[in-house]
Amino acid sequence: MGFQTLELRIEGSLAIILLNRPQALNAINLAMVGELEQAVRQVRDDSGVRVVVITGAGDKAFAAGADITEFKAMSPIDAWMFVQRLQRLFLEIERLPKPVIAAVNGYALGGGCELMMACDMIYASDAARIGQPEINLGIIPGAGGTQRLARLIGKQRAKELVLTGEMIGAQEAWGLGLLNKVVPADQLMVEVRKLADKLATKAPLAIKAAKEAIEDGYDMALERALAHEAQLFGLCFATEDRAEGVNAFLEKRPPKFKGK
Ligand code: CAA
Repeated sequence: MGFQTLELRIEGSLAIILLNRPQALNAINLAMVGELEQAVRQVRDDSGVRVVVITGAGDKAFAAGADITEFKAMSPIDAWMFVQRLQRLFLEIERLPKPVIAAVNGYALGGGCELMMACDMIYASDAARIGQPEINLGIIPGAGGTQRLARLIGKQRAKELVLTGEMIGAQEAWGLGLLNKVVPADQLMVEVRKLADKLATKAPLAIKAAKEAIEDGYDMALERALAHEAQLFGLCFATEDRAEGVNAFLEKRPPKFKGK
């Protein structure tokens, strides 16, 4: 499928979604939202794809937020609809039944930071700059920034970032628990591919169940969340991959998982 604002590359079991508006620091415009929706559904439905990576084109930005030029003519209702659509898209990404890695190769601001936070794991270049600068536009984050950020780093630190609008560097973001790993810029995709290769060897249905257990359970009371975990654990025992995993361990060989 031909996209204008992004590229979708399928390399074996890896899908790479490249946000591709480098002239605008990969700002997320309406066209990109539509194409991201299509790309996300395509990788979700492609059973050959086991891991998804989202990154930005060029060496400056992952994404510098929603496209501010489109805000000028936006009515309050348009704005409400726009962020609800972004929120649904980011929820879809968070809920993909396969791991999604953000490879943050530069600015991850506003909607870019919100997209990054919807991914399962975040690797960033040491040159990355991260923040929620919406306050400087007289608005607030609208695609999950006030919610996921507070859940990830705590309310106080989230408030500092959201209320000041200041950007922080990758090391500081790592220190806050916002990133999984910070690597030299020229090593970012090497390290991301290593992680993706590792994840691609795991049992896909167990990966799906593990994501569901963590995502569903996060906002539940512990007792209910544990019951949910126990049910998903039991469900894994219905898979061929469970038999393969256990047999491979007992036979002292690496498992070969099929996603069945
Ligand atoms: N929307 C539209 N265009 C953008 C953009 C954005 N979010 N961010 C950068 N650009 C454009 C710039 O306008 C510029 O275009 P021109 O060359 O045509 O002038 C080009 O990208 C390069 O940017 P700069 O010249 O500004 O580059 P810089 O290195 O001097 O500064 C920057 C980089 C600090 C990231 C700066 O571009 C910036 O502050 N960008 C805006 C960041 C922002 O406020 N993001 C939040 C958006 S609102 C949002 O995301 C709401 C939400 O929750 C969904």
